[in-house]
This record gives sequence, structure tokens and C-alpha cells, in this order.
Amino acid sequence: MHPIRSYVESNKKRFLDELKAFLHIESISTLPEQKQTCAECAEYVRSELARIGFAAKIFPTVGHPIVYAEDLNAGTSAPTTLFYGHYDVQPVDPIALWTTPPFEPSIRNERLYARGAADDKGQVHLHLKGIESLRATRDSMPCNIKILIEGEEEIGSTNLEKFLREHAAMLACDTVLISDTAMLAPGIPTITYGLRGLAYFEITLTSANSDLHSGMFGGAVENPLNALCSIIARLKDEYGRVAVPHFYDDILPLTPEERKQFASLPFSDEKFCASIGIPSTRGEFGYSTLERLWARPTLDVNGIWGGFTGAGAKTVLPAIAHAKISMRLVPNQSSKKIEQLFKEHITNITPPTTHVEIQPFHGGEPALTPMDSPGNKAAQAALRFAYGKEPVFIRDGGSIPIVPLFQNILNAPVVLMGFGLPDENAHAPDENILLENYFLGIESSAYFYEEFVKSLSKTHEAM
Ligand code: BES
Ligand code: MN
Ligand code: MN
Repeated sequence: MHPIRSYVESNKKRFLDELKAFLHIESISTLPEQKQTCAECAEYVRSELARIGFAAKIFPTVGHPIVYAEDLNAGTSAPTTLFYGHYDVQPVDPIALWTTPPFEPSIRNERLYARGAADDKGQVHLHLKGIESLRATRDSMPCNIKILIEGEEEIGSTNLEKFLREHAAMLACDTVLISDTAMLAPGIPTITYGLRGLAYFEITLTSANSDLHSGMFGGAVENPLNALCSIIARLKDEYGRVAVPHFYDDILPLTPEERKQFASLPFSDEKFCASIGIPSTRGEFGYSTLERLWARPTLDVNGIWGGFTGAGAKTVLPAIAHAKISMRLVPNQSSKKIEQLFKEHITNITPPTTHVEIQPFHGGEPALTPMDSPGNKAAQAALRFAYGKEPVFIRDGGSIPIVPLFQNILNAPVVLMGFGLPDENAHAPDENILLENYFLGIESSAYFYEEFVKSLSKTHEAM
């Protein structure tokens, strides 16, 4: 047995106990009342890094702290990797739908259930244990290792962008390694090479200066909720396309090779529908499900409210109506440009009988990583070795706003080697990670560093 595998085998129980302690800390970045527990979580990451021999530093921000550590003992002639992950998690509601409490990690059906189990604490932890395993089984490290763990990914990584710009020299590296994505399916090791971006807005429509009696005024005056619904109904056409003018102008079309490659992946619409309990898919005309999810943009209403929503009936014309609307973007759309187009369009189609306000939230840019970078090749070899199977390359529909910024600011390609699963319930009740993927993830992480050095020297020989 490979020494890494036997090290993992003999430390499984302790690894899980440490992961459970990490998952026990409430680190919901969006909740002001969890500011203190987020700081405790950063401190836990620092102490876990200390346990594996890294003197980590905590960098406070105006939001949640950033944890950073490095081991540069491989020397200036050796390559340098930067591992990135996030310790913050999404809110837990609806809490009643959790089988066991979200911050009381619990094992059943060979999965570990807790908020953050997959997104992203579990995937951060498997790397800490991967690096520990590598150190425990070698006399010296094959490359320099930098580790950056933030606490604001789920709220847009705003302070991390500033941190990257200010500490670009400290963070300089040959590749960035991230595990914050999902595998295509259980048993299929996966490398993700593309992510969508995001543009997010809240729109508020007002008309009369007060709620009105719907009998005394209805039919003669505007109802902002009706107006909001007509606006929303006009945002997508009958072909499932977003109806904002020039929305599609900058999109990098899928190449015929990519379409062929997507089609060759083991994915079935029937299973996809069955897994989420829907009778059929629905989306942009002329594209497959994977193309719609990974390489086409979309627009969705995330929430809509206003008027009377209590029990029973109330005959009222509400004075105000609200909606949250977001768009997933694809390479080479720009969230700034989409914001401009969206605002213009909403303003144009809002009837003069109402007043509209459009508030943008923090979004993120789409990203593509170079499929044949030395880092992606190393991930391919590491996954192949750990899982005993050839990995697949996919794109994904989610967003990690810092990915394109790593590539632009640090000028280093990003590797997305994910160990989540499509049914892991990220952001939902009963989030979980398959224990097999946690443990094979630890091995893959350890193998990655050795493979990265090999892969770089091959690239140099070829040049
Ligand atoms: N880890 C996810 C992103 C993800 C999940 C990418 C699965 C690919 C596959 C990340 O934590 C996340 O949830 N991102 C947000 C970004 C937003 C808060 C700016 C998203 O995609 O909604
Ligand atoms: Mn994540
Ligand atoms: Mn997330």
C-alpha cells in the first residue's frame, strides 16, 4: 500500500473527529450575530494549521478574518502552490427540514451530515489532512505550499479581492488549487475547468403613497405587484432566452469539440429529473441540459414579495412590490456590463405608472481555466491514482468569484479539483459529504503536490 494511503487508513478516526469539531463552529458569514463565531472558526483553522506544522497568521478585515500560512522550505528553485478555500457557510433555514441539527455533525449512510460538510469546510479539511499526510510520510516537501482560507466566499469575497491586490507578492505562486466544486457523479473523479459568473439585483416598485382598498381603487390605478409580474414575465422569451437587449453579445460560444465532450459524459436527463423530482427539464431552446447548466447564461427570480400574504383574504392594492432577480453569466460576459444592460432594460419596460429602484448586490465574473495547465495535469494524475479511474473534465454552473481574480491578479492558473456531489445538498437542509470522497480527497491532495512538480518538469523538458 502507498505510504499516504496507509497513513490515512491509520488516522481516519482522528481526522473525522477534527473535521467534526470544525463543522461544529457556526460560521454563517451573512449573519451579523455570528461575527464572533466566524472569528472563532478562523482561529480553529489557525490551530489546525499549527497542528500540521504551519505557523499561520490571521489577517483581520472589515468583515471576517482571512487565515494565511506558508511553508517555503522547498526553496526558491522549487515551484509554489497556493491552496484556497473558505470556512464560511450558508444560513441553515429552513431548519425544520434537517434530519439532525446543522452544527451537530452526524454520520449515516456513509455520509457526514452538517452545514459546510461539502461547501466548503469538509473540502478545506481534507486538504489540511492531505498536507499533514504528505509531511508525515516524507523527509522534505516537493514544493512550496501557501494556504489561504477566507470567511466571506458566500457573501462575494469582497475583502479577499482587496487582500489579493495588496498581498500579491506574498501570494505569488505557480498554480492555485481549489476544492470547492462537485464531482459529476459518485465514483467519477472530476476536474472542473469552467464556472459561471453572477449578477444579482433587488428591484422595488412603488406607486400610490399608501396601500389602497381594492374595491374603491382597483381597476383605475396601478398595482405595483401586477406591474412587477408583467415586468418579470417579459424578461425571458418563449425560447427560454433572456430578453435583455445585447445580453448575449459577448458570449464565447461553445466549440463543437466541447459540445461533443459534454455529450460524451455519463449524464442522463431522466436520472437528473428523477433526482430532483421534476417531470422534465426546461431551458434555452437548442441546448442540452449540461450546456444550459455550464455554458449558457440564465435569469431567475430568487424571491418576490409584497402585499398581503397572511392567512385568509384581504382586499388590498399594495403600495410597494419587491423582487430579487439574478443572472448566471458565462465567459466572456461581464457582470458590470450586464448590470448596465439590465438596469436600462428594467427602466425601459417599467410602466410610467410606477417608480422603480434597482439595487445591485455583489456579483462575480465567470471563469475558464486552461485545461492542459501543469496544475490540471497534476490533478488528473493525482485523482487517477487515488480513485483508480480516469478523471473527467467538466464545467459547472456555480460561481466562485475569486477564481478569475486569482488568474488575473496573481497571473496563475487555477485548478478546480472538487470532492462534492450533485446530491450533497449544498446551501440546503441535510448538507453532507460522502466519507469515501473525504478520504480519497485527502489522498488526492497529498498526491497532487508530487504530481505538480513532475508535471512542471515535463512541461519544461518539452519547451
Ligand atoms: N462552492 C460554491 C460554488 C460551486 C458549487 C461551484 C458547486 C461549482 C459547483 C460556492 O460556495 C458558492 O456557493 N458560490 C456562490 C457565489 C455567490 C455567493 C457570489 C454561488 O454560486 O451561488
Ligand atoms: Mn463553496
Ligand atoms: Mn456555497
